[in-house]
Amino acid sequence: MSSAMIETGLSATAMGIHRALASLQEELEAIDYYHQRSEASDDKSQKDLLIHNRDDEIEHAAMLLEWLRQAMPEFDVQIKKFLFKPGPWIEPVSDSPTVSVHGSGLGLGSLQ
Ligand SMILES: [Fe+2]
Repeated sequence: MSSAMIETGLSATAMGIHRALASLQEELEAIDYYHQRSEASDDKSQKDLLIHNRDDEIEHAAMLLEWLRQAMPEFDVQIKKFLFKPGPWIEPVSDSPTVSVHGSGLGLGSLQ
């Protein structure tokens, strides 16, 4: 279970979101573990098993992300803005350290 700090007095909605976010963290960690182990394995049958397990965790992560998209409107906004769009998503503007986020018109401001 995640070691993330949980505030007291949360609404049922906030607790549900917390559970989904913590679960997503755990699924992403599991993807990384299985991916690293599959890359390191020299045994073909073990490598195939670890890749299968990794891909199951990717499925779980995708389901949680969809749950979060439905539960948190800002996830819906950002997913629609960035998923299935070719990068780069952040492009430098001229020679200044100002950057803009692709397609959003959101300037992050000068760093000078
Ligand atoms: Fe999982």
